[in-house]
Amino acid sequence: MQLVTRIDEVKKLVRELRRQGKTIGLVPTMGYLHEGHLTLMRRAKAEQDVVVATVFVNPLQFGPSEDFAVYPRDLDRDSRLAAAAGVDVLFAPPVEEMYPRGYENMLAFVDVRRVTERLCGASRPGHFRGVATVVTKLFNIVEPDAAYFGQKDAQQVVVIRTMVRDLNMNVRIVTVPIVREPDGLAMSSRNVYLAPAERQAALVLSRALKLAKEKLDAGERSAATLIAAMRELISREPLATIDYISVSDAETLEELDTVRAPALVALAVKIGKTRLIDNLLWEET
Ligand code: PAJ
Repeated sequence: MQLVTRIDEVKKLVRELRRQGKTIGLVPTMGYLHEGHLTLMRRAKAEQDVVVATVFVNPLQFGPSEDFAVYPRDLDRDSRLAAAAGVDVLFAPPVEEMYPRGYENMLAFVDVRRVTERLCGASRPGHFRGVATVVTKLFNIVEPDAAYFGQKDAQQVVVIRTMVRDLNMNVRIVTVPIVREPDGLAMSSRNVYLAPAERQAALVLSRALKLAKEKLDAGERSAATLIAAMRELISREPLATIDYISVSDAETLEELDTVRAPALVALAVKIGKTRLIDNLLWEET
């Protein structure tokens, strides 16, 4: 595996690979890799000749009071894990390489409307503009045949798919299911923030989704009833504060009154100071 930090270098590498007729898969990450990231990398390796993964904690997608400065970073460990997962090129640029004039001075952005306004977009203004902009930069730098994203960030997938469709970007988007810890907690780089009691309390997210799934399987179709049941379960956990619970159309992210597939049951909950997200994609039974 080659570790590359400069845009010119990675462009040169992929140009040569493409000249050799190789297909390229891109896996964008913010690093501190876990099994969720590695699953995306292995999937990309199984489907493409070459995998380019990126590790870049993107300041443009963090709000002023969010965790950009303390977001966990360990490039040595990430390099080892990525290499073992089959990554050929690991692109880990410094912030000045991606934003040479400073990210605060960027003049051009990619803005996706509507699907960015609800759910996490409502609590994190500017977040999806930062995501869409950096992902576009990475697409332009690497020009991948396919890019791999996790269903863990369900709204991010909808935003990227909408952007690619509306702007005719030449990349196929592949979505990979959520990877969980054995007890159900969705894997996240932010799980390292959790103290032991919080780690236990964090199980309310997956438990609430499991409850929603049971009710859906039993025939419940009222979004309000599902949300009330999930809210009740979470409110019994003193360390948890609900940011949102949502039942939406999985493609448009419009809130539903009556559930019809494909629906997205999604939630964001603060456990202590750590904001966690999880979701359930409910497809036709
Ligand atoms: P990050 O949070 O590092 O996640 C990188 C990719 O891994 C995303 O596509 C995310 O959905 C996926 N992922 C994370 N946890 C997962 C899990 N438990 N199961 C399956 N996939 C999981 O998402 C970002 O970074 C950034 O917004 C990025 C797209 C890199 C743009 O900066």
